[in-house]
Amino acid sequence: MGELIVRASSEADVARCTEIYGYHVRYGTASFETDPPDLAEMKRRRAAVLEAGLPHLVAERAGMVVGYAYAANWRSRPAYRFSVEDSIYVDQDAVGRGIGRALLPALIEQCAAIGKRQMVAVIGDSAQTASIRLHAACGFELVGTLRSIGFKFGRWLDSVLMQRPLGSGDATPPAGNG
Ligand SMILES: CC(C)(COP(=O)(O)OP(=O)(O)OC[C@H]1O[C@@H](n2cnc3c(N)ncnc32)[C@H](O)[C@@H]1OP(=O)(O)O)[C@@H](O)C(=O)NCCC(=O)NCCS
Repeated sequence: MGELIVRASSEADVARCTEIYGYHVRYGTASFETDPPDLAEMKRRRAAVLEAGLPHLVAERAGMVVGYAYAANWRSRPAYRFSVEDSIYVDQDAVGRGIGRALLPALIEQCAAIGKRQMVAVIGDSAQTASIRLHAACGFELVGTLRSIGFKFGRWLDSVLMQRPLGSGDATPPAGNG
């Protein structure tokens, strides 16, 4: 099957990210978007992640991007500046084979290394077993469920919130401009 490599994305990878995400927007409930973003929009989103100094990673197997993950600032107001949200999407044809388990720890490590202290996952739909298990396996704990906060495919959807500390979490003040 070939070795799985996790690396920083390049702009050339965005076409595959667009395909991977497009599937999950069209057919899944992980994303609350309903219209798949086009390549230009996905490039803009990646550029915004990099501009914020945050990681945007891909998993590649046999020369093919099979998943991607990135961090975004949790919210824009300054007091949130040590908290990020993760997003992770695996090619529908490659789910359940450990790609999430390779991508998410790399993202966690890179966010901790740049001084972020908390990571939040907003998981669309309580039925997202794979995502909930993936995050639990990577040290996230359930912090709550927003009931019926979304509506897609003719049904109400929950958002499951999970969180994990990064680095020393809240045990020490942040470095720099705390
Ligand atoms: C969620 C997702 C990123 C997980 O990545 P993956 O490569 O499929 O998952 P992995 O093979 O690395 O498995 C991760 C964990 O989930 C479990 N898992 C995977 N698929 C599962 C399934 N269909 N049902 C139940 N558990 C599942 C695995 O057993 C593993 O748990 P463990 O480590 O406790 O054994 C991927 O399935 C995906 O892209 N799903 C659709 C989009 C999505 O939900 N993204 C998350 C947005 S927050």
